[in-house]
Order: sequence, then structure tokens, then C-alpha cells
Amino acid sequence: MEDISLHILDIAENSIRANAKNINILIQEDKKNDILTLTIEDDGEGMDDKTKKNVISPFFTTKKGKKIGLGLAFLSQSAEEAGGAMKIESEPGIGTKITATFRLGHIDRKPLGNLNETIKCLKVTHPEIILNYDYVKI
Ligand SMILES: Nc1ncnc2c1ncn2[C@@H]1O[C@H](COP(=O)(O)OP(=O)(O)O)[C@@H](O)[C@H]1O
Ligand SMILES: [Mg+2]
Repeated sequence: MEDISLHILDIAENSIRANAKNINILIQEDKKNDILTLTIEDDGEGMDDKTKKNVISPFFTTKKGKKIGLGLAFLSQSAEEAGGAMKIESEPGIGTKITATFRLGHIDRKPLGNLNETIKCLKVTHPEIILNYDYVKI
């Protein structure tokens, strides 16, 4: 994945596939502590414990007829390469929250990419979904 906005597109597609009605995307830029945090939260089907445990493995997917699922594995790798980490919180029937942190100034931190275009693209292709997006500097 070339930039963080493409990760967002990919992770939001998971939420859409999980039948989310609301997706909240938040980016927090914390210059003082050198941390960039990306949070993508949905009210979709959520994951059971088995899915949650396997999800980081690149060979795990619940998509039919597909043997690899890379979206979360790639985001996790990007975060770790930039001195951060990815966290998954998910409850069946409630929803899922993916949090990825990056060192803002890390040499291997991917650029943000075109965030506004990415959000616009998600909204246009999925008008049925309520998508909230916020970029805050703290
Ligand atoms: N937001 C989500 N809600 C429910 N399940 C999810 C969500 N995100 C990921 N998953 C589960 O994790 C699996 C792996 O996701 P991912 O790494 O993006 O690969 P892929 O989407 O290609 O299957 C999905 O197949 C799905 O079962
Ligand atoms: Mg995916």
C-alpha cells in the first residue's frame, strides 16, 4: 500500500462488507508526542474470537473463494514499520474498531495521500453509509 489513504479505503471496505451503517474515521496528529493515530470504527457485524485471533495472519479471510486476506495484515505491517502498532477491538453484533499508530516523523511512515479524495470516493460509492471523517491536530 502506497499511502495511508489507501489503507483507509481498504479497511473501510471491510466495514462495508460487514454491513456497517455508520463508519467513523478519525486521524489525530500529535506533533508534540510524534504520533499519528488512525481510527476506523464501524457498527457492523463484528468479529468472533476466532476471526479476531486469525485476522492478522495474511492467510486468513472469510471472503468466499479467496485464500488470502491482506488488508489488516498490511496495515499492521505499515504501522510497525513506522514504529507504531495496530489494535483490533471487535464485538459480534456491536461493531469493530481498528486503531493504527505511527511515529509521525518516522522515515518509513507512509504519506497520508489524498485523504479528501479517498473520503469523497467512499461516500460516492456507498451513499447508503453514514461516514464521519475528522482530522484533528492535538
Ligand atoms: N470491520 C470488520 N467487521 C467485521 N469483520 C471484519 C472487519 N474487518 C475485517 N474483518 C474480518 O477479517 C477478515 C480479514 O480482513 P482483511 O485482512 O481486510 O482481508 P479480506 O478483507 O481480504 O478478507 C475479513 O475477511 C473479515 O472476516
Ligand atoms: Mg479487507
